[in-house]
Amino acid sequence: MRDYIAAGNWKMNMSIANGKDLAQGLIESNTTSSDKVILCVPFTHLAVVNEILKGQDLIHLGAQNVCCEPSGAFTGEISAAMLTDAGAKYVLIGHSERRGYYHEDAGILSKKITLALENGLKVIYCLGEPLEVRQANEQNAHIKTQLESDLFLLDASQMANITIAYEPIWAIGTGKTASPEQAQDMHAFIRATLESKYGATIAQNTSILYGGSVKPANASEIFSKEDVDGGLVGGASLKVDSFAAICNSFPPK
Ligand code: 13P
Repeated sequence: MRDYIAAGNWKMNMSIANGKDLAQGLIESNTTSSDKVILCVPFTHLAVVNEILKGQDLIHLGAQNVCCEPSGAFTGEISAAMLTDAGAKYVLIGHSERRGYYHEDAGILSKKITLALENGLKVIYCLGEPLEVRQANEQNAHIKTQLESDLFLLDASQMANITIAYEPIWAIGTGKTASPEQAQDMHAFIRATLESKYGATIAQNTSILYGGSVKPANASEIFSKEDVDGGLVGGASLKVDSFAAICNSFPPK
């Protein structure tokens, strides 16, 4: 059975002090309905948040990016080995903000995914279509191309360490959420595409998260859908109360 996951993406927000308080507050709020909570924090916060998370096993640490090279003269970059050294267990790869603002294409993303897995990180692979693709009703073809070019170079054993996050770009930070039915349709399509490449077991075991304006008011309806296994949450993950409420929005198993 696949995991229910609530992942918070803090993006470029939070002081270290506020990040520590948020992590501590989430531990104390003792959420129960998700199998896993993942906090994807800025690089500068990894080591300190890792200290806060020690001694419990619900909330896991993630990074938001990783370099596509293993080590060496890449000024300003952070390697996969450095992330594990700082305590990260997960890393986001393929977020639309990285694809859009930093021109990360399939070649770069594949290198990042491979390096992350080689260094023992689990990958939260993000994909999603822009508004004009949705308006033209071409979202399935767009998503299939992203899966094929970024992810399908992996073998079956590597796929066991991949979580997928479907984030329609038009729903990120806009307050405009995909309807639960739109999310379910796309997640079912992603799972069917995984099945055609890797078989039913891998497709059934891969958690597929929805991201894009998830908040306490809409999380339980979205998470109630059969192929939606959780959320990747931006803005609403920055406050203990709202993120804890989202972590508690999963249906009973
Ligand atoms: P919001 O929840 O702020 O829309 O952000 C979604 C997102 O991009 C998470 O990675």
